[in-house]
Amino acid sequence: MNRMEPHFLAIFMIALSFPLFVQSLVRHYNFSVVLKNETKLCSTKSFVTVNGKFPGPTLYAREDDTVIVRVTNHVKHEVTIHWHGIKQLRTCWSDGPAYVTQCPIKTGQSFVYNFTITGQRGTLLWHAHITWLRATVHGAIVLLPKRGIPYPFPKPDKEKIIILGEWWKSDVEAVVNQATNSGLPPNISDAHTINGYPGPAPGCISQGYTLHVESGKTYLLRIINAALNDELFFKIADHKLTVVEADASYLKPFETDTIFLSPGQTTNVLLTANKLVGKYLIATTPFMDAPIGFDNVSSTATLHYKGTPSYTKTILTSIPPLNATPITKTFTDSLRSINSNTYPTKVSSTIDHSLLFAITVGINPCDTCTNGNKLVSAINNITFLMPTTSLLQAHYYNIKGIFTDDFPANPPMVFDYTGTNQPDNLHTENGTRVYRLNFNSSVQIVLQGTAMIAPENHPFHLHGYNFFVVGQGLGNFDREKDPLRFNLVDPVERNTLSVPNNGWVAIRFRADNPGVWFLHCHLEVHTTWGLKMAFIVDNGRGFNESTLPPPKDLPKC
Ligand SMILES: *[C@@H]1O[C@H](CO)[C@@H](O)[C@H](O)[C@H]1NC(C)=O
Ligand SMILES: *[C@@H]1O[C@H](CO)[C@@H](O)[C@H](O)[C@H]1NC(C)=O
Ligand SMILES: *[C@@H]1O[C@H](CO)[C@@H](O)[C@H](O)[C@H]1NC(C)=O
Ligand SMILES: *[C@@H]1O[C@H](CO)[C@@H](O)[C@H](O)[C@H]1NC(C)=O
Ligand SMILES: *[C@@H]1O[C@H](CO)[C@@H](O)[C@H](O)[C@H]1NC(C)=O
Ligand SMILES: *[C@@H]1O[C@H](CO)[C@@H](O)[C@H](O)[C@H]1NC(C)=O
Ligand SMILES: *[C@@H]1O[C@H](CO)[C@@H](O)[C@H](O)[C@H]1NC(C)=O
Ligand SMILES: *[C@@H]1O[C@H](CO)[C@@H](O)[C@H](O)[C@H]1NC(C)=O
Ligand SMILES: *[C@@H]1O[C@H](CO)[C@@H](O)[C@H](O)[C@H]1NC(C)=O
Repeated sequence: MNRMEPHFLAIFMIALSFPLFVQSLVRHYNFSVVLKNETKLCSTKSFVTVNGKFPGPTLYAREDDTVIVRVTNHVKHEVTIHWHGIKQLRTCWSDGPAYVTQCPIKTGQSFVYNFTITGQRGTLLWHAHITWLRATVHGAIVLLPKRGIPYPFPKPDKEKIIILGEWWKSDVEAVVNQATNSGLPPNISDAHTINGYPGPAPGCISQGYTLHVESGKTYLLRIINAALNDELFFKIADHKLTVVEADASYLKPFETDTIFLSPGQTTNVLLTANKLVGKYLIATTPFMDAPIGFDNVSSTATLHYKGTPSYTKTILTSIPPLNATPITKTFTDSLRSINSNTYPTKVSSTIDHSLLFAITVGINPCDTCTNGNKLVSAINNITFLMPTTSLLQAHYYNIKGIFTDDFPANPPMVFDYTGTNQPDNLHTENGTRVYRLNFNSSVQIVLQGTAMIAPENHPFHLHGYNFFVVGQGLGNFDREKDPLRFNLVDPVERNTLSVPNNGWVAIRFRADNPGVWFLHCHLEVHTTWGLKMAFIVDNGRGFNESTLPPPKDLPKC
């Protein structure tokens, strides 16, 4: 018994010190940006990865932890990494979009991203935020609740990450460069991937990802849409999924057989392995409800119960039609924030800045392009031009001539946005214009889809904040009637939303995070065309209400 005592004492001391010293940690990661040669998936090509992994490494952190990621660039492309959905409270320098918050990391250089996880738990993703590199430079972020704080849903037996992606047989940078030079739409992808496997796409390996489960156990699936241009459905044959979280915000749980995710969106679902032992098809299929060329190839994987005899046939599932708008609507309408005492939904009932952003596609002259013109896209008729130094540096050091802070709060021309009578003049204005917000002001943005050239769904992502989706509808937003139907009680809180084809969405957030924050369509094709803008949120007067000074290793342009 005596010999046991030191042991007991040690355990006792660990137990005592645990809550005192291990509440929050500094977590270090090295991200080495390197080429990977692929000969198996669909074609032989070299592509850019982090640490030679596709999808890239998972970044784990707990709420309140500080995350330090040293990114070293060993490829010929310039890179930056964005921590999609991380609030980056006062650490705008670590947000990552190229020429918005930083100059790119050049070949041979490193940059240390340094941020603290504040008030968030759930699944997010990281990805490259320059040109189209995020096609293969992406991975999961898993934010665990504070130590000792349970999930607000039954504890799963195991957790699995599922990353949906989009694969081009050719070099993705060549695809976007060709599109930019020609002024035409870019080539569509050749396959969709599930955890890096294309499934049975034409000319690709037929092997797919296998999700191993044991009868009776419950799994938390952390599902991420890391595709560039495609909104996706996700389904598992014969199994219901209980949706519990979206974009690292807890939801009122609901059951569904089909998940709908836009690029940049994430969701956690509970899956219980309660069917007969066997193999069940997992399918991811694209959604497109506009007459636009897109990659319509499904990708499949297998849910595999432990103990399934090898001769067992896979149980198949039906897949949603490619244009299944009603399924997207049912799914989106089911998303309600948990709004509990522990996780209250704090939607502002007053508005300081009321903005209406009309989303258009246009055509501008271009002498060097194939048809003498090029496709562009605009918010309030401004096609955003990237500056040659970062907006945040220009803002912080007060460098003149980089941007102007006169981004229009409303469309310069009022028309029947979703009607058949569209403006004849399809030109837009170039501009590097930002919208300025005073610290802690309450902001409402109505994102209004239009029918200019091609009405379609647009997933919009706001950096630095979560917002509440207080309302949405089809047709033109009605300033008098629509706000009467807004949900200010339990609207979903997220960082990326889908503006429905020929419809609108209203979001609200409180500008309590100073810095420069990007707002853009998360279809990379549209970001390339200029469907983006930025907010400058001024510093407050209080002690903790200003952007921290820039890191010493901040890359130069
Ligand atoms: C990151 O790389 C540095 C230098 O190569 C090394 O000293 C450090 O241990 C690495 N850190 C991690 C977390 O791998
Ligand atoms: C990839 O292939 C190229 C030539 O095809 C070769 O030069 C390079 O060393 C290879 N890289 C890796 C990481 O294997
Ligand atoms: C990260 O930022 C914090 C606070 O700004 C600073 O104290 C710390 O030294 C930084 N760490 C690294 C590795 O840069
Ligand atoms: C895009 O597609 C066209 C037509 O199939 C093809 O000729 C071209 O080489 C493709 N571009 C790239 C960069 O793969
Ligand atoms: C997918 O698109 C191709 C053209 O890119 C078309 O030939 C084919 O019929 C489409 N398949 C489905 C299922 O719509
Ligand atoms: C957009 O701006 C261009 C260039 O100033 C103008 O010709 C066009 O009428 C504007 N369109 C809209 C819809 O505001
Ligand atoms: C808009 O910017 C593009 C560069 O992206 C340039 O080619 C074009 O000439 C500009 N148009 C105008 C009207 O300034
Ligand atoms: C921001 O404004 C809200 C509403 O007026 C107020 O409750 C809150 O304390 C303010 N926060 C800061 C940091 O000033
Ligand atoms: C400022 O922020 C730090 C760290 O987030 C916190 O510990 C401190 O209490 C805050 N100070 C004030 C005056 O709010």
